Amino acid sequence: MNFKNNKLYIENIEATKIARKFGTPSYCYSLNRLKNNIRNFKNNFKSIKPLICFSVKSNSNLQILKEIKKSAMGADVVSKGELIIALKAGIHPKKIVFSGIGKTFDEIKFAIEKNILLINAESESEIKEIEKIAKTKKKKINIGLRLNPNIDAKTLKKISTGKNEDKFGVVESNFLKILKKFRDSKYLYIKCLSIHIGSQIIDYRPYAKMINIVQNTIKKSKHKFDFVDLGGGMGIKYNNKSKPLNYKKYNLIIKKFLKKNNVKIIFEPGRSIIGDTAVLLTKIIYIKAIKKKNFIILDAAMNDLIRPALYGAKHQIIPLKRNNKIINKIHDFVGPICESTDKFLSLKKYQKLNEKEILGICDVGAYGMVLSSNYNLRTKASEIMVNKSSLRVILKRQKLNNII
Ligand code: LLP
Repeated sequence: MNFKNNKLYIENIEATKIARKFGTPSYCYSLNRLKNNIRNFKNNFKSIKPLICFSVKSNSNLQILKEIKKSAMGADVVSKGELIIALKAGIHPKKIVFSGIGKTFDEIKFAIEKNILLINAESESEIKEIEKIAKTKKKKINIGLRLNPNIDAKTLKKISTGKNEDKFGVVESNFLKILKKFRDSKYLYIKCLSIHIGSQIIDYRPYAKMINIVQNTIKKSKHKFDFVDLGGGMGIKYNNKSKPLNYKKYNLIIKKFLKKNNVKIIFEPGRSIIGDTAVLLTKIIYIKAIKKKNFIILDAAMNDLIRPALYGAKHQIIPLKRNNKIINKIHDFVGPICESTDKFLSLKKYQKLNEKEILGICDVGAYGMVLSSNYNLRTKASEIMVNKSSLRVILKRQKLNNII
């Protein structure tokens, strides 16, 4: 995205034109940015040759997953639906890992039938269930076991996953017990230690701690793992003040770890691949001025993008046409939903805006569309892919007829 003559362009196309052609609200992605992100991610970890499994939960659009497949990445899935769509995108089963604390009988059976690389289990009960199903299939199944390292990833409180009180994985003592118990299972190989400490992590130090703990646990276990799945969580820049993760340092820490451990590293990045590839185009329906502030009432709402309401996340909002008439008054950018939390951002000043004008809510590629809903019986937005000078609808706007 960049401004030319004060007009916002997404690749070679003026954003206003996209909004006019496809309507609003619309999620609008840049293919070029997606390809760059993938290239950068791969380059950052080139020296450790990881298997990179895109975290489908961050964005499950089929056309985007097809791009992921083209780049030879695998997938990290957490439900039967995500597994089906990853396979439909053409991602090879031997590049798919299945995570999640509550996989059902049906989901495990399906994953086994599809011969995926690993089912990453998160409890003893789940492992017993996998063993039972493997037995009926007369197969020996590769699984991972998720370690809960009791680490504070220093990220948004609501998206931390690595502390003991979080529901994910098993604590070290249990981890070691389970390894022993299933070591000689006829139907299971515990091939992978998996771990994931949270999302939007921009400080490399929690990762350093995590690797340290992984190292200690492996040492204590005396178990031969083929894979160590380090999850995802790499943070991105949501505004000019924040810094992204220092990949060099993270890579170096892993390199050191690999000198002592002959394992294949798996990553499960979501946000760092897709987060900054999209903008949500939205039209100002009305502007309501009260004494203290202006309410900028948008046609996008918390049902389209719930991150601000759910986590207090801040997404920048940019005009598609820049002007230099600054209004020094609080601007609350809100949606039309009947809830006070249906608010995207509050700013102390903003350029002069007009009703019917289009704005862009930035960095919504990850956990944007996937978390959208039909709340207030609103239809879900469309998704558009920009590739240089061409446009493609990658998901049609939902029709009211289909939800009523
Ligand atoms: N692997 C596992 C086991 C995970 O639980 C997650 C994210 C990922 C990988 C991908 O993490 P990423 O690289 O995208 O940070 N809805 C929240 C984020 C929830 C993350 C859930 N797990 C948000 O909008 O910030």
